[in-house]
Amino acid sequence: MLLVVGGTGDLGGRVVRLLRDQGNEVRCLVREGSDDSELRRLGVQVTSGDLTEPGSLAAACQGIATIVATATVIARRLAGAKKPSIKEADEVGMASLVDAAEAAGVRRFVYISFPGVEDASGSPLELAKLAIEKRLERSTLQRVVVRADAFQEIHLAPLGRFDLAAGKVAVIGKGNSRRRWISTADVAALLAAVAVEPDPPTLIEVGGPEAISRNEAVAIAEALIGRPLKVQHMPRLVARLAVRLLSRSNDGLASVFGTGLLQDVRAADWDDEPLRRRGIEPRSATTYLREQVRLLADTQKH
Ligand SMILES: NC(=O)c1ccc[n+]([C@@H]2O[C@H](COP(=O)([O-])OP(=O)(O)OC[C@H]3O[C@@H](n4cnc5c(N)ncnc54)[C@H](OP(=O)(O)O)[C@@H]3O)[C@@H](O)[C@H]2O)c1
Repeated sequence: MLLVVGGTGDLGGRVVRLLRDQGNEVRCLVREGSDDSELRRLGVQVTSGDLTEPGSLAAACQGIATIVATATVIARRLAGAKKPSIKEADEVGMASLVDAAEAAGVRRFVYISFPGVEDASGSPLELAKLAIEKRLERSTLQRVVVRADAFQEIHLAPLGRFDLAAGKVAVIGKGNSRRRWISTADVAALLAAVAVEPDPPTLIEVGGPEAISRNEAVAIAEALIGRPLKVQHMPRLVARLAVRLLSRSNDGLASVFGTGLLQDVRAADWDDEPLRRRGIEPRSATTYLREQVRLLADTQKH
């Protein structure tokens, strides 16, 4: 049986659907009060628990061969949740899950991270990802760390301040580093594949099929939409200061600046080969933007 931790989330939910479509038995650890109706409809065994409650993790790991861990508290922190912090959930809590997995004799641990965490600015999310990667390196578990580039649905969308409807985009730094913006569905397909394939690598760095900078993404969107977008620039130095100043008071926002900065500092030297070799035909950033512009035109018509 596989355990998915984060199954009520966007990425985690997609992984669960794919694993169930392939006929796998799946258990999900779900926080008290979270909506688990879709998971139950998919035939998932739901167990109540929380990354910050080690006892619940020990119970959830019993009889599990593989864990896929996608959980993160950043969305709730950005929405104003007072507790837990990113450190408490994504770092300390996720480390407790690794401890529980080892104690229960779990074989494989699939973990989602992002490329470049080792030379990132030190925002709470980056520190958590790095700490868990290191914890897994010391672990007896068979680890599969998937470092995925920035998700199209987050970073080329209003949440990532790439807002076509409002005609506004924010660019941290110069905006010239070419990144391989990846579709969440493609990341989910990769996680579901490495969760069950016989001999997966310990580390996979992956992105979408097209390497374009944020500035190039803006130019593509402007051409598709037929008018200029208002671009607001934040210098790297200001973003670095924001990470440092906000890390304690607003760990969600500090992490948004941190990952934005990382995307500007580090160009992609990874590609979509891990997807293609598993038969996953990846969606390009331009295709995603074209779909968004079409959706926007449809909503404006009605
Ligand atoms: N965005 C990017 O560009 C990017 C790039 C690389 C990697 N990633 C990683 O990809 C993952 C994104 O996952 P997603 O899209 O599924 O995120 P999401 O939609 O925000 O879902 C987060 C999940 O974590 C669960 N969770 C939060 N706090 C928890 C806790 N204390 N105990 C147990 N579960 C908890 C949530 O449960 P509730 O529903 O109950 O809150 C939910 O199931 C993250 O790990 C992120 O760091 C993202």
